Amino acid sequence: MHIVLSLGGSLVNTENGIDTVFLNQIRQILEKSEHNFAIVTGGGKAARKYANEVRLKGGNEFEADEAAIVATKENAKAVIDVFSAGKSNICKKVCLDFDNARKEAKKFRFIAMGGTIPGITTDADAALLAEAINSRRLVNISNVDAIYDSNPKENKNAKKYGSLDYSTLINLACRSDTRKAGENFVFDILACKIIARSKIEAHFVSGKNLNDLENAINGKNHNGTIVK
Ligand code: UTP
Repeated sequence: MHIVLSLGGSLVNTENGIDTVFLNQIRQILEKSEHNFAIVTGGGKAARKYANEVRLKGGNEFEADEAAIVATKENAKAVIDVFSAGKSNICKKVCLDFDNARKEAKKFRFIAMGGTIPGITTDADAALLAEAINSRRLVNISNVDAIYDSNPKENKNAKKYGSLDYSTLINLACRSDTRKAGENFVFDILACKIIARSKIEAHFVSGKNLNDLENAINGKNHNGTIVK
């Protein structure tokens, strides 16, 4: 079975470019585990930049999304490059769609994919990929350490959830739709609904806490949030 990792784009591509140190740390943790992995990368700042460039030229939102998807695929390629240099058994091409990913997952221990179609996010891609390849576990790695009942950056009394059921997760994601633009909930609503309908166990951890990350991929307890 492949475990699906949803890897936030801003962790892959930082202000200082591709974070090869971080990607190598992840590679070592994954190599050590007994599992196989399908890694879905977000677009980070580059996605917003590419999308805005298209909008400035008069492009529509579909076209802006298409440009943003390019950034997600660049990040998937960065993962492939680091894992290949580390001699991991990774598919050398970025998987372009779910069908492609399903085929490559049969051949490789590691596969990497970015976005797929306009209108969704790589969280939803990761959830759909988990369904497509019958994965039972998804690990979301972002720059927040867990799921909270409100934005912890704005509310110092925000309550952190150690565990959640699917319906509470969906309620939290729906509620966040009314928040200010740019203040996205940690996992988008479509992704929440997909993991709920297939009962995929989801772990939410920070990329800065490698211990949590390692425990999450191995299905052990950690300081983030477990949804099941
Ligand atoms: P994400 O929003 O998934 O990446 O995709 P991110 O910004 O790194 O987010 P986190 O950190 O993982 O939460 C970036 C953009 O790419 C487009 C959307 O415009 C999205 O906002 N996209 C991505 C798609 O249109 N379709 C996809 O399948 C994936």
